[in-house]
Amino acid sequence: MKNVILIGFMGAGKSTIGRRLAKKMQRRFVDTDLWIEKQTGQKIKDIFAEHGEEYFRDLETGLLKKLLNCEEELVIAVGGGLPVREENRKLLKKLGTVIYLRADAKTLLKRLGGDKHRPMLQGGDLRERIHMLMEAREGLYQQAAEIEYYTDNKSLMKTVEEINELFL
Ligand code: S3P
Repeated sequence: MKNVILIGFMGAGKSTIGRRLAKKMQRRFVDTDLWIEKQTGQKIKDIFAEHGEEYFRDLETGLLKKLLNCEEELVIAVGGGLPVREENRKLLKKLGTVIYLRADAKTLLKRLGGDKHRPMLQGGDLRERIHMLMEAREGLYQQAAEIEYYTDNKSLMKTVEEINELFL
């Protein structure tokens, strides 16, 4: 499977970069969050509120399994928490080349300030939440990914070009 998969923390730019990259590579783009929202007819924050996080994580795992049966080569952006499950990390590796989009905490804090839609960031001090989650996830993202790409101080265009070049 030669899918290109973007992982990384919330606010790292997975969806924006993924959509542009897909266009450049002339592939279809799949965003796991959007796919889940479309399938369930519910916003992610409502899925979390009504069914809880584990239910949402099961939907993510279910989608990865479905994608394994898809023969088309895709660009896939996955939700920030998806690689936390060991099973999902294994599925990601089977699905294609996993790229970890990195951004430092300062950049993320700027981008995520005022967010009202991401359940993992609601309540408490945003800076602390970001630090805590990043600490818990960093190593798992590294385990899941073949390539790490630093997005800090890079324009969207440059990022898309450089990632595209990896697959030429
Ligand atoms: C989550 C990240 C979100 C979304 C959900 C949970 C997380 O996706 O899947 O709110 O646990 O990090 P983005 O990374 O696209 O914001």
